[in-house]
Order: sequence, then structure tokens, then C-alpha cells
Amino acid sequence: MSHMKIEGSVVFVTGANRGLGAEYVRQLLDRGAAKVYAGARQIESVKNSAAIAVPMDVTSQSDIDAAVRTCSDVTMLINNAGAIFGGRIMAENALENAKAEFETNVWGPFNLSRAFAPVLAKNGGGVIVNVLSAVSWMSIKDAATYAMSKSAAWSLTNGLRLELARQGTLVVAVHPAFIDTEMAAGVDMPKTTPFQVVDRTLNGVEAGIPEVLADDTSAFVKSNLPNHIETFYPKVAAPRP
Ligand SMILES: NC(=O)c1ccc[n+]([C@@H]2O[C@H](COP(=O)([O-])OP(=O)(O)OC[C@H]3O[C@@H](n4cnc5c(N)ncnc54)[C@H](OP(=O)(O)O)[C@@H]3O)[C@@H](O)[C@H]2O)c1
Repeated sequence: MSHMKIEGSVVFVTGANRGLGAEYVRQLLDRGAAKVYAGARQIESVKNSAAIAVPMDVTSQSDIDAAVRTCSDVTMLINNAGAIFGGRIMAENALENAKAEFETNVWGPFNLSRAFAPVLAKNGGGVIVNVLSAVSWMSIKDAATYAMSKSAAWSLTNGLRLELARQGTLVVAVHPAFIDTEMAAGVDMPKTTPFQVVDRTLNGVEAGIPEVLADDTSAFVKSNLPNHIETFYPKVAAPRP
């Protein structure tokens, strides 16, 4: 299957209780998804009563195993849960923070995708959506360890796409710059609305597109990938006198 209709789909969303995840749930239901499982660490925090709340800490293999058993009709997995703990690589607690970010942002989608892939195959192929970032392609000074995790998650996405092509699973990468949610509350920069990120994702899924550029900033970063060092760090890249 190279594309999928949202109408009639059965979707599992991680981090579905708030932020971008809650918007995924809302728009999926709006577009006629048959069933939306809202994965959350605290099921009471899922406020959308039209969704089915499912316990899901993405760092817990037992939560993942239980979800695969109870949600065996899933046709689309949206790996949305994400966390940022750290900042600079040279900061005191950088290793601890970076490892925690990798647990949620890399090993979470890694384990969920591995666990749900056979379910998707059984249900006709389906779709995996990984919510990545513009910082999959560049670093930023105060969130370098988070950027490392999103680069790794991008590579995970690319690897999954290669391996799951033969079972007909579409694997979609979503790259937003700053989004107007709690995660970016302290950022004083232009932010994309959760609506736009989700709308473009679901349009991409329906069109069978493997990479969604969720806003102009991520499109700009992508288009400058071959020379992004020069673009963003002109002094560092300048030839030595
Ligand atoms: N906001 C941005 O500027 C931005 C930009 C690019 C990409 N993204 C990505 O977009 C995705 C959604 O983020 P957001 O903006 O909606 O952030 P948010 O408002 O901080 O929400 C994060 C969500 O992830 C959940 N979560 C965190 N750790 C988890 C874990 N171990 N297991 C299960 N759920 C967990 C949170 O659940 P709790 O309520 O239990 O904490 C919450 O539902 C993330 O992957 C993020 O990296 C965000």
C-alpha cells in the first residue's frame, strides 16, 4: 500500500494527551478515522472522550507489549511522543540528559515500530509516522543533545522505510521547526501551529508522501542541507587566513 485513506483507519498515537499529539487525535477523528487509540503515560490526562485512552510510556517495553495485544486492529502508528531534557553537549548533566532523550525520542519509536510492524502487515501494510524535526538536519546551540536524538530518529525512519517496503508499509517522516506547544513555550521565535503540522502530515499520508516538510523553516533547512554549515555558521566555515 503506497497511501492510505484516513477515513476508516485505526490509529495509535503516542503522547496523545496534549500538544501535537492531542491535535493528531482531534484531526484524525475529524477526518473519519474509525478508531483512535490515544497513548498516554497517565490515561486520565486524555481529555478527548471520542478516543480510546491506552497506557503508553514509550520507554516501557511492557506498555508496548500490552498495547500490541489490545490494539491488534491498528493500521497507522504515529510516533509523536517526544522529550527534551538537555541542552549543550558540554553541560554538566549532558550524558544523563542525552540518554533520557534517546530513550524517548529514539528507542521509543524503535521499539514501538518493531512491535507494531507485524500488526500493520497483518492489516494490509498501513503507515508509520515518525514526528521528527528540522533539527534532524542541523544542530542548535541550546538543544544539541535533543538534535542528536532527532538525527538518530531520522535515520531510524529511513531504515524502517527500507525494511518495511516489502510488507507495503508507508513510513513517513515529519519535519517541523518550532511548534506552538508547551515544548517550545520558552522559545521566542516564529512557531508553526499544531493544526498545520497535523494537517500536512495527514495530507501527506493520504498522498503516499514519505517526507512531510511541516513549515517553511524546515523546507529552508532541507534545501540548504548540502551547505548548511556555511549557511548557519559562516564564521566557523570560513577558510582560515
Ligand atoms: N514543540 C516544538 O517546537 C517541536 C518542534 C519539532 C518537533 N517536535 C516534536 O513534536 C512531538 C510532539 O511534541 P509537542 O510539541 O507536542 O511537545 P509537548 O507539548 O511537550 O508534549 C510532549 C508529549 O510527549 C509525551 N511524552 C514525553 N515523554 C514520553 C514518554 N516517555 N512516553 C510517552 N509519552 C511521552 C508527553 O506526555 P506527558 O503529558 O505525560 O508528559 C506529551 O504528551 C515530539 O516528538 C517533539 O520532539 C516539537
